[in-house]
Amino acid sequence: MAQTTLAAAGGLALGERAWSGEGAQSAARPVLASTWGFGQQANEAALKIMQQGGSTLDAVEQGIWVTEADLSNSSVGIGGTPNAEGVVQLDACIMWGPGHKAGSVAALEGIAHPISAARRVMEKTSHVMLVGEGARQFALAQGLETAQMPTEERRQAWLRWRAEQEERKKAQGHDTIALLVLDAEGHLAGGCSTSGRGYKLPGRVGDSPILGSGLYVDEEVGAAGATGIGENIMRYCGSFLAVEYMRQGLHPQEACAEVVRRIAKSEGRADLSINFVALDKAGRHGAAGTDEGFQYALTTPEESGVRTPLRAP
Ligand code: GLY
Repeated sequence: MAQTTLAAAGGLALGERAWSGEGAQSAARPVLASTWGFGQQANEAALKIMQQGGSTLDAVEQGIWVTEADLSNSSVGIGGTPNAEGVVQLDACIMWGPGHKAGSVAALEGIAHPISAARRVMEKTSHVMLVGEGARQFALAQGLETAQMPTEERRQAWLRWRAEQEERKKAQGHDTIALLVLDAEGHLAGGCSTSGRGYKLPGRVGDSPILGSGLYVDEEVGAAGATGIGENIMRYCGSFLAVEYMRQGLHPQEACAEVVRRIAKSEGRADLSINFVALDKAGRHGAAGTDEGFQYALTTPEESGVRTPLRAP
């Protein structure tokens, strides 16, 4: 039903092939769902942490470390694409369902794992979000690892971009990681990390560190995360919206599709680069988005793989 409606909206991708029957749901716990194919490695690292007795938040944090440390990933962490001035500014957030706890950092420079800075904000301060130099000083005071950014490869690409005098507003591909977990006790958690849009204006912050936009976790209902052009997600609180649709009873895939549908309708177009993954309290999961290559990774103790969304014609 969703596919028909989305097809009418024009060229939208629906997550989840008929994978575990009607309305995919995992009985095994924990369940981990994350954006993109590279999320599978993050999921599997996170699962291992939990199987070795680590906490769910350890799993979220250290799963995302894998993506942040992957120098081949030009959208997240150390290998991230710099802004227009050649500086890598990283965004991240984390949420823990019990107690509705959250932490976030934005425009963070020189710190290898922004997800860890976000977790420290949540656990070590009375605040929710730190930005820029304040966030960096806090991360350093917490003893977090520093890293030289951009990498030489990204710096060369930035130099080429600058030489070619590309317009700053021209969108670059960017593939945020959002990782959602339903643990063995039924608790929900999630994290999100990105270097944001390539060659963005210095100081630009996207959806990823904004609670309710790039990530939202509600212990009663479920969790959702986003990837794509933050400007098209954060104006609609996309992840919050997906969770609220799940609260109304929609399957996570349908909830994601409904967010995409709603934003596409409001914007009057479907070429928005907005993609969502969601996981509910019952272990149901799904994804939907506008990007042709959008995928999500799903991992449980019984299976782990990448789901290629169905494409509406
Ligand atoms: N979704 C990542 C960003 O727009 O910054």
